[in-house]
Amino acid sequence: MLRQYLYISTAGGLDNAAIEHILEACQRNNRVRNVTGLLLYNGRNFLQLLEGEASDLFWVMRKIGSDPRHSGVSWLADRAVDERACPSWLMRHIRLVDDLDQRRAALDSELPDALDPALREIMLNFAALN
Ligand SMILES: Cc1cc2nc3c(=O)[nH]c(=O)nc-3n(C[C@H](O)[C@H](O)[C@H](O)COP(=O)(O)O)c2cc1C
Repeated sequence: MLRQYLYISTAGGLDNAAIEHILEACQRNNRVRNVTGLLLYNGRNFLQLLEGEASDLFWVMRKIGSDPRHSGVSWLADRAVDERACPSWLMRHIRLVDDLDQRRAALDSELPDALDPALREIMLNFAALN
């Protein structure tokens, strides 16, 4: 059964290269596991949406949960879905724009149309934090 997981975690001051390393692992593993999703980083916290079959998500989440590059992994949502919100994103890092006033609107325009409204609202609120 297809599921979506949403979590937040804490990671201090990772630079672009560090994010790129994470995304490389995502491209490698998520392709094999057929896991898709999106990743936001605000300089202090990650918010990640993962979607896929439960067993594949479990496999990926075990890796993510024990990754020393972040801590305090806290699950926000775990839901069964009929369809993926981002079927073509093995893991898309959506960059938050620097201007805090623009962040909600900028992110809103990048998020997929098929995203559940409640999850969208959590993501937009995350983007508004500073
Ligand atoms: C915020 C964050 C998100 C991550 N997301 C994924 C992911 O979606 N898929 C994945 O395979 N690894 C992800 N990783 C990396 C894993 O924690 C782990 O380093 C990686 O899966 C190890 O891959 P390897 O065993 O092939 O080297 C993430 C790490 C962090 C810190």
